Amino acid sequence: MKRLTLLALALVLSGGVAIADTIKIGVVGPFSGPAAQQGRNFQAGIDAWLALNGNKIGNDTIEIVYRDLPTADPAKSAALTRDLIVGEGVRYLAGYYYTPDAMAAAPILVEGNVPMVVFNAATSAIMNASPYVVRTSFTTWQTSTPMAAVARERGIKKAITVVTDYGPGVDAESAFVKGFKDAGGEIVASVRMPMNTNDFSPIMQRIKDSGAEAVFAFLPSGPATLGFMKAFAENGLKKAGITLLAPGDLTQESDLPALGDSALGTLTTFHYAVSHDSPENKAFVAAASKAIGDPASLTFPAVGAYDGMYVISKMIEATKGKQDAKAAVEAVKGLSWISPRGPVTIDPQNRHITQNIYLREVASENGKSINKEIRTFEKQGDPGWKAP
Ligand code: PHB
Repeated sequence: MKRLTLLALALVLSGGVAIADTIKIGVVGPFSGPAAQQGRNFQAGIDAWLALNGNKIGNDTIEIVYRDLPTADPAKSAALTRDLIVGEGVRYLAGYYYTPDAMAAAPILVEGNVPMVVFNAATSAIMNASPYVVRTSFTTWQTSTPMAAVARERGIKKAITVVTDYGPGVDAESAFVKGFKDAGGEIVASVRMPMNTNDFSPIMQRIKDSGAEAVFAFLPSGPATLGFMKAFAENGLKKAGITLLAPGDLTQESDLPALGDSALGTLTTFHYAVSHDSPENKAFVAAASKAIGDPASLTFPAVGAYDGMYVISKMIEATKGKQDAKAAVEAVKGLSWISPRGPVTIDPQNRHITQNIYLREVASENGKSINKEIRTFEKQGDPGWKAP
């Protein structure tokens, strides 16, 4: 319910001047449980944006309403999403760490007249699940495709792929296999692991036995990626001469201290490194570090959220605070800006973010492990998107 002050009411009656309103943004993410740190990064990105830009857009005040979704749980995601729209009256939805959660929320958007800005979930097909989805993260097709080129350039002929068996894993596998084969490489095996896998020793043995020179791996960032990286080190794969190639989900900055020297030299491709050298990133990292409290836990979901807030602010501006999901989404098609990650654009065709993908190497600088950017693949769209 809008609360009109007498003055605002008088203004409206006298000439239709816009009235001040509170616009609620519902954010769904893992704020507790094993992936809570990823949710804290959503919140840090949002808080950083609010600290640098304020919580007013024109006359309107924005208010964030959080809902906790600890693990991938499509039924709960749909229930929370409906509750945010119907119970809380949110005008925008945002967040969604895991693909199944974004997929389950997407069909609700049109009836609710609410746009959704995906801060993380990275399967290409999400964009086709609703015309009201916009995404400020990445897709695993987008991050994995350049890695196939890098592998071939570095002389790797035989590779094995190992991915978590759900949307972004299957996409990462498809992207790497296509790019690697197109460039003349051979895939000796493709392994898909159930999402709840936490003992990676048998997988490491399979990789060793496969005869591959390199393993391309994707797992969703969180406890599983740390477990996989530790198993890779502890089972002596590096010593056996096997190169690990992965999108940057496997070397998120918060995991690097626990991996220590074992991760040094690991090559990954990704859209964002906390160490990215630009004035926009320095300002972002300062604000987001303050927001998260423990700067060592700052990682990529924060930049998806920060840029997502920018996109939502542009939607609110364009619709002058009116609830019009179609107009809001139209207004950000083709929107370009300088993100902390580099120059970006919302692709007007599929509403996913076009961005640089960087090749990075885990390196030690001033006694701290970082993802050091060593090469840029400019203006990458989503090679995995297919017109519906
Ligand atoms: C996803 O579920 O889409 C997802 C989650 C975590 C990642 C990447 C993709 O690191």
